[in-house]
Amino acid sequence: MKDRVLAVTGAAGILGSALTRRLAGDGAQIVGIDLAKSFPADAPLALALPGVDLADQAAINAAFAAIAQRFGKLDGLANIAGGFRWETLEGGAIETWDKLYTMNVRTAVLACKAATPLLTKGGGAIVNVSANATSRADAGMGAYTASKSGVSRLTESLAAELKDKNVRVNAVMPSIIDTPANRADMPDAQFDRWVTPEALSDVISFLLSDAARAITGALLPVTGRV
Ligand SMILES: NC(=O)c1ccc[n+]([C@@H]2O[C@H](COP(=O)([O-])OP(=O)(O)OC[C@H]3O[C@@H](n4cnc5c(N)ncnc54)[C@H](OP(=O)(O)O)[C@@H]3O)[C@@H](O)[C@H]2O)c1
Repeated sequence: MKDRVLAVTGAAGILGSALTRRLAGDGAQIVGIDLAKSFPADAPLALALPGVDLADQAAINAAFAAIAQRFGKLDGLANIAGGFRWETLEGGAIETWDKLYTMNVRTAVLACKAATPLLTKGGGAIVNVSANATSRADAGMGAYTASKSGVSRLTESLAAELKDKNVRVNAVMPSIIDTPANRADMPDAQFDRWVTPEALSDVISFLLSDAARAITGALLPVTGRV
């Protein structure tokens, strides 16, 4: 990863922070992009782009223009930004479906679209975050899994599109990540069965690296012991 320029969306979040530390520790220069107004003070970022709404085409284009101006290249993109809502159809609102589509699919599509011209210049890799729950949706999981299924289809389609342009596109499909929010929501769960942000970051780092040069279009379950 030495001297690679890698963009991490959602870099202020739990997984994005862990991934940033992992990749920077391997010598990469990390560009952090997030809606959050700031990043943790100790985040090892070469370029911090806070306050960027990835669902806003103009904002995201400006962010990638800043990357091009600063580095002149991009070697990889990890689309970590996204979110979750549990809501039944009966008790819920159509707005939730729109919101999760925007949060998970639109953000990833726009980031991929803005990054592709930079990535195809010298070759590179994209890693998206889908969800293992897409294989079968439980009650209250319809809007979330529909949106993450969109991320899976984006991954497959873009992998095929960019196959001959030296850009690989893969996705991880985590089950439950061991985050403070999940611990608070499920206090009786066995936390040590969940995948840690660090373990998931190892997998994403592998998919971004040349060691995964033979892999594109893969949807990889990363489920710990769940
Ligand atoms: N946690 C789990 O158990 C789990 C399981 C499967 C998949 N995932 C996926 O893994 C990824 C990371 O999860 P996490 O637990 O680390 O979540 P997190 O801590 O909430 O981090 C997500 C980050 O994405 C940012 N974000 C959301 N919408 C954005 C937008 N429109 N533009 C720019 N940034 C935006 C959030 O900013 P704000 O906080 O300012 O909104 C936040 O900093 C997500 O895609 C999630 O869906 C999580």
